[in-house]
Amino acid sequence: MAKYDLTGRTVLITGASSGIGRELSRCFAAEGSNLVLGCHPSEKESLEGLIAELAGSHGVRVSGLAIDLADSRGPEDFYHSVRRTAGRIDVLVNNAGVLHYGSFADIPLEDHELLVKLNVLAYLKLMRLFLADMVKAGEGRILNVVSAAAFQPTVHHATYGASKAFMQSLSEAVDQELRGTGVRVFTFNPSYTRTPLLSRGGFPVKIWWYRISGLSDPADMARQAVRVFKQGKPVFIPGLRNWLVHSILIRLMPRSLLNALGRWVLRAEG
Ligand SMILES: NC(=O)c1ccc[n+]([C@@H]2O[C@H](COP(=O)([O-])OP(=O)(O)OC[C@H]3O[C@@H](n4cnc5c(N)ncnc54)[C@H](OP(=O)(O)O)[C@@H]3O)[C@@H](O)[C@H]2O)c1
Repeated sequence: MAKYDLTGRTVLITGASSGIGRELSRCFAAEGSNLVLGCHPSEKESLEGLIAELAGSHGVRVSGLAIDLADSRGPEDFYHSVRRTAGRIDVLVNNAGVLHYGSFADIPLEDHELLVKLNVLAYLKLMRLFLADMVKAGEGRILNVVSAAAFQPTVHHATYGASKAFMQSLSEAVDQELRGTGVRVFTFNPSYTRTPLLSRGGFPVKIWWYRISGLSDPADMARQAVRVFKQGKPVFIPGLRNWLVHSILIRLMPRSLLNALGRWVLRAEG
């Protein structure tokens, strides 16, 4: 299959001000794509720095939009602003997300609610809104940054894993529904990666699982994600060890054992 050429495409990335989103923005700019970058209103300044960097180094058009996607009308407002200012989007990268670590019973209800609004509802709404335009145009790509957490329950950050499982199931089903339309939905499923996500929301400095998964570098993750995205792989779990665990091992293991192991390996360490 021919590689998807990103040159001159318009790529929209949410949560572009830091972590994986920031690095994905750099990689798409290096491919010659024009970018529309989304960020939380509190990160507007840091996004402006990135916009200047990318427009200067790659000669591509880069614009930014600061909207809180967890607001009840956030995704809809974001969609209409993007359409008004940037026109049609070729590639939507759903990336903005949050994580809260701890016992489900102890995490405040508002935190669970915020996570679902951002990790599930905003992804779903943006996907639905931009898909309609893509189907009409007969082409388009959606890259949902999900997680290796999508494939099994994540004890001690239960709502996070559940939100990622929702998006995995949705993405894979919708991708099948879209066959023949020229539009595809892909997921990117990295394991734990060194970004601000893991230094807030009560996430421990270290969990036992890092002994197996390691802690990935966001720039490396983004490079691999864009390379594989161009190849058209629908679900991408980077790293052989992570792929073996999340794609093969979890299918062979009894569910009760898998869940009990999760309680141990995802606990704080040190
Ligand atoms: N890091 C990991 O271990 C890991 C592994 C697998 C998958 N992922 C996924 O990768 C994606 C990116 O995460 P990351 O690790 O790069 O974390 P990050 O550096 O914290 O990036 C998350 C981005 O989302 C933005 N955001 C948060 N709340 C928002 C809101 N209400 N409205 C709009 N934007 C908002 C953040 O802005 P602020 O900085 O202002 O909050 C930030 O730019 C997430 O979906 C995450 O679940 C991460």
